[in-house]
Amino acid sequence: MIDSVTSLRMTNLTILGSTGSIGTNTLDVVRQNSHQYKVYALAAGRNMERLAGQIREFRPHVAVVSTADGREQLARALAEAGLAKAEWPEMAYGPAALVEISTSPEADIVISAIVGVTGLEATYEAVRAAKRVGLANKEVLVSGGKLVMDAVRASGAELIPIDSEHNGAHQCLRAGNRAEVTRLILTASGGPFRTTPIEKLAQVSPEDALQHPTWKMGNRITIDSATLMNKGFEVIEACWLFGFSPAQVDVVIHPQSTVHAMIEYSDGSVIAQISATDMRMPIQYALTYPARSQAPVPKIDWSEARRWEFGPPDFKKFPLLKLAYQCQEAGGSATCTLNAADEVAVEAFLERRISFPSISAVVEETVAKMPNRQPASIGDILEVDKESRSLARDLIARGAKAGAAAQSHGFGLAASKTAPPTARA
Ligand SMILES: NC(=O)c1ccc[n+]([C@@H]2O[C@H](COP(=O)([O-])OP(=O)(O)OC[C@H]3O[C@@H](n4cnc5c(N)ncnc54)[C@H](OP(=O)(O)O)[C@@H]3O)[C@@H](O)[C@H]2O)c1
Repeated sequence: MIDSVTSLRMTNLTILGSTGSIGTNTLDVVRQNSHQYKVYALAAGRNMERLAGQIREFRPHVAVVSTADGREQLARALAEAGLAKAEWPEMAYGPAALVEISTSPEADIVISAIVGVTGLEATYEAVRAAKRVGLANKEVLVSGGKLVMDAVRASGAELIPIDSEHNGAHQCLRAGNRAEVTRLILTASGGPFRTTPIEKLAQVSPEDALQHPTWKMGNRITIDSATLMNKGFEVIEACWLFGFSPAQVDVVIHPQSTVHAMIEYSDGSVIAQISATDMRMPIQYALTYPARSQAPVPKIDWSEARRWEFGPPDFKKFPLLKLAYQCQEAGGSATCTLNAADEVAVEAFLERRISFPSISAVVEETVAKMPNRQPASIGDILEVDKESRSLARDLIARGAKAGAAAQSHGFGLAASKTAPPTARA
């Protein structure tokens, strides 16, 4: 009896992408607040061993993986982890199952932390089901911003950003009226190549690009941080989340990544959000908002001497940042293409098929060649995404062929030829 009363008061979470960097950080927040939060469902892609460990610890009702094979692997991993069959969760796979766990009446909050457009439909449906959604997966708004925000308005869902910059902006916006806001300033660490001369970028390897100076994240976002595509996506995400025009969103390089975002009000006052570089703070905020509670993150020690630098981004060295502004200005499906082409190009770079500067070359060419459409449904967006990927792959293949014929590199290959790096959380 006591148990059921307690569980009635608990908040149930669905975590999309539980085995990733945001997913594991979310589970750590749950672990620290186990009196308040329970896991209803976990969804992951391929890391069955980690998922089995999470199931053993958090005992979700449902576990979703990407394929039928994955479900078999998960069953084996659970058996190996020594969990009795009676304690296994219901196991499902594929996009429909992701939608089911995101819209289930059992789920109070959905954490959207799958990487890429794979997370779009389930997040959109969670919004339509009026859930609170903790949004880490920025590709959701980059690809389907209009549709998702229309759904937020129609359903009254709460979309709380987890991306640290947007979470910071969300906090700063609580200081005044939206009508008095003139500008949003997003900070960027500048990535691992902030001080690398532009002519050296053709030589950098995936290992170099995966060395993010301040954050430990999944591979895609880490490479996107090195090209500043990630910051471009964040500009787009901010426009949708807070109703800014691209011209109202500035990017400032701040290598220390401690000031996450700033909001300028009409009287010239600037409110900044400052915290340690630890994603558990914004994740917890998304769970507890509008309340705050003790978070398992280090506090800033103000007695220590420190220096914070701010400077303008180099649009010439990092052309994808500029392109993101242009795509958001263009509207329609341009940002969906931007994301799809970037995902393909990042994958090719990680597999050493193209060089670092070729990431932006592939993305720019794909965006220039894809017709801009007005997607009216998630199906339309996924279609644009598919076509854009196919075009980007084609451009890479043609570039490689042209390179081979001319005995040089089409889009250019990275310098080192060792095995591609594996994903890390
Ligand atoms: N990491 C950060 O600090 C951070 C900060 C701000 C925003 N974000 C955003 O948050 C999202 C996640 O980033 P991340 O760094 O956590 O990425 P990540 O470490 O690569 O994790 C991605 C997650 O997505 C899962 N996944 C992939 N395909 C799937 C599928 N078909 N079905 C179900 N799950 C699938 C992965 O599962 P497997 O690993 O099992 O394959 C993994 O759990 C991205 O959109 C990123 O831009 C991240």
